Amino acid sequence: MNLGGVVVAAGSGERFGGPKALVEVGGVPMWRLAADLLESAGAAPVVVVGDVPGGIPGGRRRRDSVAAGVAALPDDVAWVLVHDAARPLATTALARRVAGRLLEGDVDAVVPVIPVRDTLKRVEGGRVVETADRTGLAAVQTPQGFRRAALAAAQAADDRDASDDAALVERHGGVVATVPGDPANLKVTYPEDLALVEALR
Ligand code: C5P
Repeated sequence: MNLGGVVVAAGSGERFGGPKALVEVGGVPMWRLAADLLESAGAAPVVVVGDVPGGIPGGRRRRDSVAAGVAALPDDVAWVLVHDAARPLATTALARRVAGRLLEGDVDAVVPVIPVRDTLKRVEGGRVVETADRTGLAAVQTPQGFRRAALAAAQAADDRDASDDAALVERHGGVVATVPGDPANLKVTYPEDLALVEALR
């Protein structure tokens, strides 16, 4: 039962101001860092989704791009790591932690989480309307791991959008386990995030 990988590197990067997968961190494009990361955790093959060398076309939404990547994996791939090209600081230790938990074989998905440190408030029009109870809340990162059949079934079950793939599996009744994430595993969302990422690297 093989472990494959999908790097999502498509999308318009609206908040970034353009596609970001070709942007370099430490002289290496982010899509390649992401592909190397999944390979270092034992994923083979790794499919890159996006307008990058060797990449396959992405979809309109992130979930469409993930689905395209999973569909491009060979049939004998039963376990999949999915990673955002936009997280160039993810470590091999983190990816191995996800893969290791996944391959224990008793859950449908595995996500790395970090506890929410800041107080969370709901804000509307520049004013606080509510302070959320953060008990039990966690911030979720990639790479995420999936039993391929569970991910494919969840993708086929409905067409509603979700900000990550684990949310589809949850919605479909799947069991999603957590492993400790890494606070340094930042996602490049806005242009100013790049300086932070270079400083941390
Ligand atoms: O835009 P955002 O930062 O949320 O994207 C997260 C990841 O999903 C990025 O690596 C981006 O390339 C990918 N993505 C994609 N296809 C889309 C939208 C986002 O592959 N349609």
